[in-house]
Amino acid sequence: MQDLQFLESPERGVLLMDVNYVIRCANPRAAEIFNTKLDQLIGFTLPDWIKTRPQNPKDTIEEVLYPDYKVGMVLHRYSGPVYGASGEITGRIELYSDITARRRLETEILERNRQLAELNKRLQKAQEELLRSERLRTLGEMAAGIAHDINNALGIVLGNVQLAKRLLKDNPGVSKCIDSIELAARDAAETVRKLKEIGKPVDRSHYRPLDLSKLAESVATAAIPTWQESGKQIELITEFEPDCTVNGDEAELREALTNILFNAVQAIKEHGTIKVATKCNGNEVLLTVADNGIGMNDEIKKRVFDPFFTTRGSAGTGLGMSMVAAIAMRHEGKVAIESEEGKGTVVVLRLPKAE
Ligand SMILES: Nc1ncnc2c1ncn2[C@@H]1O[C@H](COP(=O)(O)OP(=O)(O)OP(=O)(O)O)[C@@H](O)[C@H]1O
Ligand SMILES: [Mg+2]
Repeated sequence: MQDLQFLESPERGVLLMDVNYVIRCANPRAAEIFNTKLDQLIGFTLPDWIKTRPQNPKDTIEEVLYPDYKVGMVLHRYSGPVYGASGEITGRIELYSDITARRRLETEILERNRQLAELNKRLQKAQEELLRSERLRTLGEMAAGIAHDINNALGIVLGNVQLAKRLLKDNPGVSKCIDSIELAARDAAETVRKLKEIGKPVDRSHYRPLDLSKLAESVATAAIPTWQESGKQIELITEFEPDCTVNGDEAELREALTNILFNAVQAIKEHGTIKVATKCNGNEVLLTVADNGIGMNDEIKKRVFDPFFTTRGSAGTGLGMSMVAAIAMRHEGKVAIESEEGKGTVVVLRLPKAE
């Protein structure tokens, strides 16, 4: 056995054993890998830290080992039978390779891949946000152009509605028609108001420090009577952190939170929970509204921020979340959604913390 050429392998540790698994021959590399001397190997069985033994002399073993005498070292072990000329098993050969560097490289490649996937995800998100802001900007420009004209027209309609109501107060049939005209005109005025809000130019000159927790508390409290009117059983849970101060426009931030809250109420069918929370996170303030309502499927999730996208038919303008996104953008913040159909939705508004 000693004449075998591969015993000279500088890379692999080689052990040749007899049928009783006593090591009869080993190369210097084996001693090096096992952190011992050749004469400590020859004549002995395998060291205890190599635990797997063949159940049957014909078995081969292939495994990765982490020897405890050298932290971080990774070995590959092959163990298989050696056959004599007439096919009988004459012993066993074991080959040990130090694969530490390969493993490290593999781990590094895996880590790089993970980082790449993460970057790709971030890039995709940034692209979506850019697209969203571009869409909002175009809509805003368009809205600014038409809002003035439509508002003038609606002003005339509503003014004359009031006049007609007074003149025709004794004619209930006509009064009903006029009420419908008034309602439709007011809905249209609300849509124009939202469009104007979306298209507002960025002007931060009037921004002032606001305690987002106090603001959230007052908006949530103000919203309670509205959802009580709807007859739904909704439990409101609040969790406000102190000193969550942002620089902003109070009316706009109230509007944003009101929209998010109303969506949460609308998502709850009969009874549910809405949790409103604020949290300071480094140089950000997070405002979270979580509901356990109907949630959204992937298609709705993709389109929530699309202007005019609504699943509420004529009851919704589909501008609520676009307005939230526009307000967040003007405040140099972001709005994100996590939602699962049938489970609920979490909306997170992130705003820069005031210095
Ligand atoms: N918390 C939520 N749970 C489930 N679906 C939601 C939630 N928030 C928003 N959505 C979905 O996103 C759509 C768009 O929301 P958005 O607030 O922009 O418009 P809307 O609520 O339909 O109408 P508007 O706000 O103008 O009254 C909703 O119609 C609904 O399908
Ligand atoms: Mg809405």
